[in-house]
Amino acid sequence: MRKIDAKKKIGILTSGGDAPGMNAAIRAVVRTAMYHDLQVFGVLRGYEGLIAADFHEMTAKDVSDIIHRGGTILRTARSEEMRTDEGLDRAAQVCNVLALDGLVVIGGDGSLKGASKLARRGVNVFGIPATIDLDLCCSEYTIGFDTAVNTGMDAVNKIRDTSSSHERCSVIEVMGRNCGQIALWCGMTGGAEEIMIPEFKEVDLDAVVRQIMENRGKGKRHNLILVAEGIGDSYQLSLDIERITGIETRSTILGHLQRGGIPTAVDRMHASMMGYKAVELFVSGAQNRVVVMKNGKYDDLDIFEALEEKKPYNHELYDIIKILSI
Ligand code: F6P
Repeated sequence: MRKIDAKKKIGILTSGGDAPGMNAAIRAVVRTAMYHDLQVFGVLRGYEGLIAADFHEMTAKDVSDIIHRGGTILRTARSEEMRTDEGLDRAAQVCNVLALDGLVVIGGDGSLKGASKLARRGVNVFGIPATIDLDLCCSEYTIGFDTAVNTGMDAVNKIRDTSSSHERCSVIEVMGRNCGQIALWCGMTGGAEEIMIPEFKEVDLDAVVRQIMENRGKGKRHNLILVAEGIGDSYQLSLDIERITGIETRSTILGHLQRGGIPTAVDRMHASMMGYKAVELFVSGAQNRVVVMKNGKYDDLDIFEALEEKKPYNHELYDIIKILSI
């Protein structure tokens, strides 16, 4: 008797910090999987849910009406357990018991590293880069960055109005623990006078103060200083600037505001394409790949090689911002 082929099964999870566009990626993965007649299991709360075997089967209908929503319908977590061998073994075991033929992981650096460790334990993983930080070396784009920058730029526009009216300095802190891309992009697009990011070896307060005084001398009514959270205490920085310059200075921390909101068209487009590509890779028989953007085109890399390098820092953007703010 001819054996009926069982449907292939894939799991999908979102992990780490949420990023606008994750839902569009989930939708693309589920719908492409349906097109190929695969069975899809949605894992809740990232690796936490995987370890706890918290999943449910998904259909095309489950991803209706989500392309325009921020956050992630699968929810997410930063799993401490996934950092341990026991947690990793348990996560791999769940994939085994579920007989998953593939696991799609949507997340940033830590999440993709977790995926690569699962790959070492025999799970066939497919990574989709999603983090507002744009801090992955392997991909020129990470889902969520464009929305986060637009949210940040909008905030800078608004702070500029009040800053000019009161002739104050404004320190605006955006996200980015280890990476200054959001600060650089918000600084460039919001027309900031100064940027401070963790890639700089140290905070040069004297240079910042000198610049503020020079700008005041030139008749500038405001001074917008964009800082990434990784540089330290931005409130203290604003106090120091006020004390030294004598110019009233206010600080605003945008915080998690940048992680939510309606994803932009750019994020929805990349999320949809990357989700589609991840499933196409699985269907083609590929193993352990990350979908990336390289030289402006979608591509894919071996997950182990993709995560080897650290994103290099290019000072050019900062230099141009300084030229354009004279
Ligand atoms: O994952 C990106 C990010 O938003 C970083 O920019 C920020 O440092 C961190 O997450 C904040 O994480 P949490 O939401 O866990 O406090």
